[in-house]
Amino acid sequence: MSAPGYPFAVIPADVVSAGDYARHAEAMLDPRVWAYLDGGAGDEITLRENLAAFEALKMTPRVLADVSGGHTRLTLAGEALAHPFILAPVGWQKLFHPQGELASAQAAGVMQAPLAVSCMATETVEAIAGQGGPVWFQIYMQATRAATEALVRRAEAAGCRALLVTVDAPIGGIRNRAQRVGFSLPLGMVAANLPAEGAPPPLKAGASAVFDGMMRAAPGWADIEWLTRLTRLPVFVKGILHADDAERALSAGAAGIVVSNHGGRVLDTAPAAINALPAIAARLNGAAPILFDSGVRRGSDAFKAIALGADAVMIGRPYIWALSVAGALGVAHLLRTLREELEITMALMGCRTLTDIRQASICHA
Ligand SMILES: Cc1cc2nc3c(=O)[nH]c(=O)nc-3n(C[C@H](O)[C@H](O)[C@H](O)COP(=O)(O)O)c2cc1C
Repeated sequence: MSAPGYPFAVIPADVVSAGDYARHAEAMLDPRVWAYLDGGAGDEITLRENLAAFEALKMTPRVLADVSGGHTRLTLAGEALAHPFILAPVGWQKLFHPQGELASAQAAGVMQAPLAVSCMATETVEAIAGQGGPVWFQIYMQATRAATEALVRRAEAAGCRALLVTVDAPIGGIRNRAQRVGFSLPLGMVAANLPAEGAPPPLKAGASAVFDGMMRAAPGWADIEWLTRLTRLPVFVKGILHADDAERALSAGAAGIVVSNHGGRVLDTAPAAINALPAIAARLNGAAPILFDSGVRRGSDAFKAIALGADAVMIGRPYIWALSVAGALGVAHLLRTLREELEITMALMGCRTLTDIRQASICHA
């Protein structure tokens, strides 16, 4: 099971949207890798719902508005960004393309989109940051605070500008689709920023692999407080679906949150992330930036998320489809496509700026 390489010297002529990249990626990738990438948890109800919920949201256009001089600029955690698209942390990118995260980082640099480097990246954070684009780092709390601190210091030294701490996957989701086809990581594929893992201690007879295994070492709110005090980088808590947790994250010192259900990969029948967003945005009431992911496939989806309270959106699978098909060129093309789609949607909705989008008329069909 190896990454397919460069089947196309150029972007295929019929690729004009994220969905087109999905079609080509599915045709090229090893079916087991595709199942890992595309699949979700359990019966994939949340995975489907993430997309269906965006489809159900309708936009009422506003005509004859003057949008000349409009733009998609924003400031996020003190940084000026040209547009609100961020590449979400996605692990093991060499599964999809031989250049893995380096190719994603090159595209991020060209398109000035922050790349959130996964804790499970197959390239070192130093090499990824060395590609010149804006880089963030995603952390899973490690078994000890010393190990987490070592990761944080490494990300800081590499020049990462923000941290995401992912809290919605203290234990792996039940990924039945990947299980059915027997997906496992190829031999030799390692997380380049983590020390080699020893075997977990054996469980006592009758012990639960969940409660006495993984979950014994799982982080809690005190660890998030510790993390936000440890670093001067802004820390975003990723994987929030409940307004109480959003508030709690800010009290723990987070600079912001990511409303996300991990692309439907962890808890099946969790609500569509876009449906969870309005209540969270209402509760935070502008107190901190809200990032959003899970189901963004179009610039119009980004528009809807911003209208419902997000400051910026992260994309997961779509850029990995593009990476699989055409490497850095594909990812850059996808980002440009999404940005154009957003701009056209803004023009048709009579919005000059991202702030104007907040007033847009979005409704359930
Ligand atoms: C193959 C794959 C690997 C992922 N790896 C990580 C990871 O290492 N850390 C993390 O916080 N999220 C991870 N995610 C979740 C993404 O960051 C993001 O939340 C999700 O993909 C957004 O949904 P979307 O794919 O519908 O855009 C992964 C997602 C996919 C598809």
